[in-house]
Amino acid sequence: MDVQKVIDQLGGRHALQSLLGVGPSAISNYITRGCFPRRVQSIIDTALQDTPHHNQLHNPNANSTSSTTLTPPRIIHPTHGKRIALIIGGGIAAYKALELTRRLQDHGFHITGIMTKSAQQFITPLSLSALSGEKVYTDLFSLTDEAEMGHIRLARETDLVLVVPATANLMARAANGIADDLASTILLATTAPVMMAPAMNPAMWSHPATQDNLARLQSRGVHIIGPDSGDTACGEDGEGRLTSPQDIVAHVRARLEPDRSSLALSGKHALVTSGPTIEPIDSVRFIANHSSGKQGHAIAAALASHGATVTLVNGPVTIDPPTGVKLVSVETAQEMHDACMAALPADIAVCAAAVADWRAQAPKNHKIKKQAADSMTLNLVKNPDILAALGTHEQRPTLLVGFAAETENLEANAQQKRIAKNCDWIIGNLVAVSSGTNTSDNLVFGHDKNTIMLVRDGTSEAWPKMRKTEIADKLVAAMIMTLNETVADKEPANV
Ligand code: CTP
Repeated sequence: MDVQKVIDQLGGRHALQSLLGVGPSAISNYITRGCFPRRVQSIIDTALQDTPHHNQLHNPNANSTSSTTLTPPRIIHPTHGKRIALIIGGGIAAYKALELTRRLQDHGFHITGIMTKSAQQFITPLSLSALSGEKVYTDLFSLTDEAEMGHIRLARETDLVLVVPATANLMARAANGIADDLASTILLATTAPVMMAPAMNPAMWSHPATQDNLARLQSRGVHIIGPDSGDTACGEDGEGRLTSPQDIVAHVRARLEPDRSSLALSGKHALVTSGPTIEPIDSVRFIANHSSGKQGHAIAAALASHGATVTLVNGPVTIDPPTGVKLVSVETAQEMHDACMAALPADIAVCAAAVADWRAQAPKNHKIKKQAADSMTLNLVKNPDILAALGTHEQRPTLLVGFAAETENLEANAQQKRIAKNCDWIIGNLVAVSSGTNTSDNLVFGHDKNTIMLVRDGTSEAWPKMRKTEIADKLVAAMIMTLNETVADKEPANV
C-alpha cells in the first residue's frame, strides 16, 4: 500500500490525523515506515470506501458560498473496529444490557450479542439484534451458526468478552471451567480479555461459594465491574446491583481505547454548556424551557472520547452526565455565566445550553399569593449572554461554537447570530415544542434526533436528520479538522 497515496486520497495529513485520532508524528512514522500499523488498517479500509464524500468535505474551497445539503464529516472513533462479545446472563438486570449495547455503540464498538437460555426469559434475541444490528448467538449446537461463525471464532475474533449481567451461576461455571452452553464455552475458549459485571441477590453475592468463584476468576485476570450497593430487584438492600451501563462503558473504554495522550484532542480543554437554565420567580415558581441537554451532553461526550479535558456546565437536566467530564451543575443563567468564565481558558467552547434570556427582576423568597386582580405583571431583566461574552473575552476560545434555536428563517438568523456574537460556527436548528397539537417534523427538545445546519464564515451546510450522538461525533470531527488547519496556518512555511 502506498502510504502517501492513501493519505492524499483521505484528504491529507490533517484529515488522517483526525480520522485516526493520532498526532502529526504518528503520520510521519507511517510515511517513514511505508505502512500503517494493523490497529488502524481497518479504519483506513473503511474510510477509503467513502473517499468521494471525504474529499468533498475536506476540500476547504468546496461549497464556499451557498447553503448546500451535505453528508457531514465521517468520524471514526478511536475504538472503531473494536469488537465486543457481549454475553448476557439470565437475571432481571439483563434488560440493562440493551441500554449498554447502545452506549457502547455510541463509542464506536461493534457488539456481538450472545445470550444464555435464561437471559432469553428476560429479553429476546430479536430486541438485542435490532439494537446491535448484528446476529445474536444463543445456541452452541446450531449448524447455521457454526457454518457462519463457529463458537471458537466467536470467542477468538473479539477484542473483549463482556458478561452483563454476570449471574452467580455463570460466574460459577466460568470459575470451574464448565462449558455446557455457548456462553460458558466462549468464556473457556477465548483468549481475549474478559470483563464481568455481576448482578444478583445480596445473599447470593456474599455467599462464600460466589466469593470463592470471584477470587478464582480475578486471579485469572477477569476484570470484575461492581456490583453496586442499594435496592436490588428482589427487594433486598445490599451489594448485588448491576453497575450502571455508563460505568461499565467507562471500564470498557479504559481497557480498549488507545493511550489517551495520542488522541486528537489530547491536551485541549473544551468548555460545553448544556441543558436549560431556570430563573426563579418566587420560592416555588420558575421560568424554564424544554431543553433536555441531550445534544450538549452528546457533544461533551464526543469531545472527551477524543481526549479533550471537558468542563460541562449544565443546567437542571434529568439525563446522566457523560463519563470522564468535569461537571459543573448550575441553575440560573448568571450561575452558568460565572461558571463558564471561571472555566477559561479553553481551546474549544460549545454553547449548547438554552439559556433563559430573561430573569425576574425581583424574585420573591416566598410564594406569591394569588391576588384579587385578574392580571399581574412580572418585571424581567436581561440575563448575561454567555456566548457573546466568550466571543469578546480576552481569553476567547480558539474555536467558539454557538447554537441558534429558531422557529423560522434558520439560515439568515443563524448567520446573523454568528456575527453578532463573534463566534466561529453556529449550529442552527429549527425548533418546535412537542406540546399541544404540533405535529411538525422539527421536534427537537427532548428527542434523540436532530436536524441541523452548520453555519460557518460564508458557508452553511444542511445536515440530514441524525441521532444527536451522531451529530455530536461529526461536529467533533469537523472541530478536530478546523483546529488542525488553524495550527497548520500558524506553522512557518518551509523555504
Ligand atoms: N446564549 C447564551 N447566553 C444567553 C442566551 C443565549 O450563551 N443568555 C447562547 C446559546 O447557548 C446559543 C446561542 O447563544 O448558543 C443562541 O441562543 P438562542 O436562544 O438561539 O438565541 P438568543 O441569543 O437567545 O436570541 P433569540 O432568543 O432572540 O433568538
